[in-house]
Amino acid sequence: MTAASSDLEGLVQGLHHITLVTSNQEVNRRFYTEVLGLRRVKLTVNQDDIFHRHLFYANEKGTTGSAITFFEWPELPRGRVGLTSSHHLAYTVPTVEALPKWRAWLLSNSVSVDGPLTRDERISLYLKDPDGVTVEITKPNKESVTSDYVQELNRDIPAVKEITDDMRLTVFNHATPVTSDPELTVRYLNRLLGLKNSYRRTNPDQNDTAIVAVGNDDEPDFLRCLAASSARVGDVGTGSVHHIALAVEDEEDHLRILRQLNESGISNSGIIDRFWFKSLYFHDPDGNLLEIATKGPGYTADEPLEKLGSRLVLAPWLEPKRHEIEGALNELDRKTARS
Ligand SMILES: [Fe+2]
Ligand SMILES: [Fe+2]
Repeated sequence: MTAASSDLEGLVQGLHHITLVTSNQEVNRRFYTEVLGLRRVKLTVNQDDIFHRHLFYANEKGTTGSAITFFEWPELPRGRVGLTSSHHLAYTVPTVEALPKWRAWLLSNSVSVDGPLTRDERISLYLKDPDGVTVEITKPNKESVTSDYVQELNRDIPAVKEITDDMRLTVFNHATPVTSDPELTVRYLNRLLGLKNSYRRTNPDQNDTAIVAVGNDDEPDFLRCLAASSARVGDVGTGSVHHIALAVEDEEDHLRILRQLNESGISNSGIIDRFWFKSLYFHDPDGNLLEIATKGPGYTADEPLEKLGSRLVLAPWLEPKRHEIEGALNELDRKTARS
């Protein structure tokens, strides 16, 4: 018999990481580290396609919920947002005042920016990464800062020569899977993961779509599902989201979710050891790939904090193939440089 959804409440703590596809790891690295100020915390390979890289960028400590990760697949065509491939992702910054500074910094790095704009209960700016991914930088507006104040901030921005601590991207605020049937999605995420629907609003950017928020008591809207009954199936390709990973505390909580999936007859990957965390994959009713990942052991399992991401690391079971993997990655780089 399946567990009641109330028994599962609180197991999923929020976002763990979001994984996308990039066409070029070097362009990608420069953008996420030098322009967005994250650090690379892991340089490894895609464990399901070991001759392609998997890159992780996160905040300074590699906190759970801060890692944006990329499969480098230069061979793939450009992706398309839709069912199966989410719309955008959002990082939180510490203060509203950080947003106009980000605007100035991004413009000085030749990145176009939309905003800061007052949204529903947040203030956000939007940009695109070199592969065309929409990234939102946001500050939840609990203090009810007015749009006049935001305009005032936007009028008088000093030159920003570096990313200062008050600007740092901290953790993800939300991900935005696309859904064609939000009631079904909400029921599904509630029954399987104990998540709850906190609100439904008209999308301020597109009146014929809605934002249906799903989360837990602490973070009620870490999934802001974009609901449109007419949504088409997207394509996972470069510049698109591959999957969204949600965090659980430990292996015991992981097993409780696995049991719920199995007892509900939901096809899933079973638990997979990724070395830095354990993973469990399944699809939502619209075909969006979701992962449940444990918080530990973490990115420091094989590298000290200060050296994270500085060299190619492999899960221990892939070490015997290191020579072959490095050869394939070099060849991939040569091909990318020629194209
Ligand atoms: Fe958003
Ligand atoms: Fe993942």
